[in-house]
Amino acid sequence: MDTNRLQIADALARFYLSPEAAENLSGEDFATHKASVLSALDKGVSLTSNYQPAKAAVTRFLGQALTDAPPHPVLDAIRPFMKDLHWQTNKNYHGHFEEKFFENEAFAEIIGPKGMLRTDVFRAGLLLMGPEIDYPDHNHEASEWYNVLSGTGLWRQGGNAFSLCPPPSAIFHSSWEVHAMRCQKTPVLALWSWAGNMSSEAMPV
Ligand SMILES: [Fe+2]
Repeated sequence: MDTNRLQIADALARFYLSPEAAENLSGEDFATHKASVLSALDKGVSLTSNYQPAKAAVTRFLGQALTDAPPHPVLDAIRPFMKDLHWQTNKNYHGHFEEKFFENEAFAEIIGPKGMLRTDVFRAGLLLMGPEIDYPDHNHEASEWYNVLSGTGLWRQGGNAFSLCPPPSAIFHSSWEVHAMRCQKTPVLALWSWAGNMSSEAMPV
């Protein structure tokens, strides 16, 4: 059972090498992020024994998001362990974002310093957002690569307008780039990875 968890890392490496994963992404920051993650995956990640499952309010939408999701190799690798994921909200947002946000957003770290698979080089996992929720402007020092798995949300980067991001959209945020998300009628499930300085969680802007 546990060795199957390593298939998540294998699936992520194969996916990140595929053209679909990078879609329209380019630039030095993205290349650095991708190289960092692929290098760490190539060296290998280890199984952790102290990863504990945890639900969040928004996981009430997880079943719908999984039903709506088109086939995806990384999601297929994660599916057997979906009930084991540790969902959490970011405490840095408390007092800044409205209470509704915390009932409609959570993330799970699957690979990383606190993931079910351990590496200190990068973090990767799932983000789940409920229907019609706004994820206001925020940023973080780590660079971030999103791949939309389910649901069509809107993403905004810097001073740009919101743009529709249906699966399998790929989005990249450079270090400290301000971004925001907005959901429509369906929940949104996205694969994310962080690289670079990951010592602090995202902050509201
Ligand atoms: Fe982010």
